[in-house]
Amino acid sequence: MSGPSTYEPKTGFTRWLDQRMPIIRLSYDSFVDFPTPRNLNYWYTFGGILTLCLVVQIVTGIVLAMHYVPHVDMAFASVERIDRDVNFGWLLRNIHANGASMFFLAVYLHMFRGLYYGSYKAPRELLWILGVVIFILMMAAAFMGYVLPWGQMSFWGATVITNLFGALPIIGEPVTQWLWGGFSVGNATLNRFFSLHYLIPFLIAGVVGLHVWALHVPGNNNPTGISVKSSRDTLPFHPYYTTKDGFALVVFLVIFAFFVFYWPDALGHADNYIPADPLVTPSHIVPEWYLLPFYAILRAVPSKLMGVLLMFGSIGVLFILPWLDTSKVRSMRYRPLARWFFLFFIIACLGLGWCGAKSPDEIAFPMGTNAEGEATGVNFLWLARVLTVYYFAYFLAILPLLGFIEKPKPRPASIEASVLGGKSEPNAAAQPAPAE
Ligand code: HEM
Repeated sequence: MSGPSTYEPKTGFTRWLDQRMPIIRLSYDSFVDFPTPRNLNYWYTFGGILTLCLVVQIVTGIVLAMHYVPHVDMAFASVERIDRDVNFGWLLRNIHANGASMFFLAVYLHMFRGLYYGSYKAPRELLWILGVVIFILMMAAAFMGYVLPWGQMSFWGATVITNLFGALPIIGEPVTQWLWGGFSVGNATLNRFFSLHYLIPFLIAGVVGLHVWALHVPGNNNPTGISVKSSRDTLPFHPYYTTKDGFALVVFLVIFAFFVFYWPDALGHADNYIPADPLVTPSHIVPEWYLLPFYAILRAVPSKLMGVLLMFGSIGVLFILPWLDTSKVRSMRYRPLARWFFLFFIIACLGLGWCGAKSPDEIAFPMGTNAEGEATGVNFLWLARVLTVYYFAYFLAILPLLGFIEKPKPRPASIEASVLGGKSEPNAAAQPAPAE
């Protein structure tokens, strides 16, 4: 907790409780009187939104699990029954399925915000690393959840992804069979995926607790990246940020509700309304939109093992990011070169998502026609290769080098000055990061 506690119990009961288990004091100091930089913008509302997403997924998931049957012969029909016969089952399912997409939308904005404002830098490295752990758990939960309806995409998605482990030398085959609980994706696989899909959100909730703890020790970063220097730089969390977070939450829920009520299948794949058939492979096996960039990286290299390593590496590199970025300045607001490379990075991530959705030999940028009259040009495989190179270069070369070559712009003297106006510090660019 930053700073001494300001909580004063007012009733006999709260005094009694405070001496035995100061839980109200902890909540008050963390979420009511917590000193928060006065310049936080709307990009800072996604932490609260994510917390709500997690709660929504857990609550709707628990009720869905009361009606869902984790058996290969009944799973598909049980989901159809939830949609058609269970009271408000359609609503629960639409919220849960679209909730996953909204959760990922929010987490990506939350992560890109962190990347732009340098929130992963000292002293918030552990906060960032815990975030990456949450992200990995979210991907595992989403992947296993998508298998549960036991449609064509569920089955074939599970088959493709579990087969990846077969690329590991020597242990590949036994590990894959151990994951399946048999010799192919089957009933044992569905059962364990259901069990883990139920478990993982509670693990996420635990890691979120650590994430928020790690946030409350150094306190929030902010759009200037400059550290809090005096009490004039901060405001109490309540009512300023409870109101701001509340407003953002309502806007988010309106968008969420639009999908749930008006466009519930827009983000899913039509093939998942066909019951799983191990004898019929769909023409295109694609994951949900939020996993597409990683799928594109996986397919960008001809060697299966290399693809698997690159795909895991693309997430693994986030763990060491705090030590790869050598700049002394946190926020890209004051980093004229870094912000351009960041923009290209966003484009690369979106482009990889596009590649993941397309078949590798389809033409992305037509440049003419061949003798047979077919379009020629850059296909999605090559586009994915170029973008994969940029993705890794951004972390492994650009950010490490920029710290040495870039000349940062002058920064405001303090957070207060950035909001209320004031002189820029003359040689702020030369300051080391911890002094920010
Ligand atoms: C269930 C998922 C998550 C929840 C509930 C969550 C919650 C929060 C909350 C409440 C905050 C403070 C408010 C804010 O800055 O928005 C926060 C900050 C932060 N989170 Fe998360 N988070 C999640 C996932 C992630 C992930 C996946 C990452 C990165 C990989 C991440 C990195 C950060 C960072 C760096 C901050 C500090 C930002 C700053 O102060 O500038 N979080 N998170």
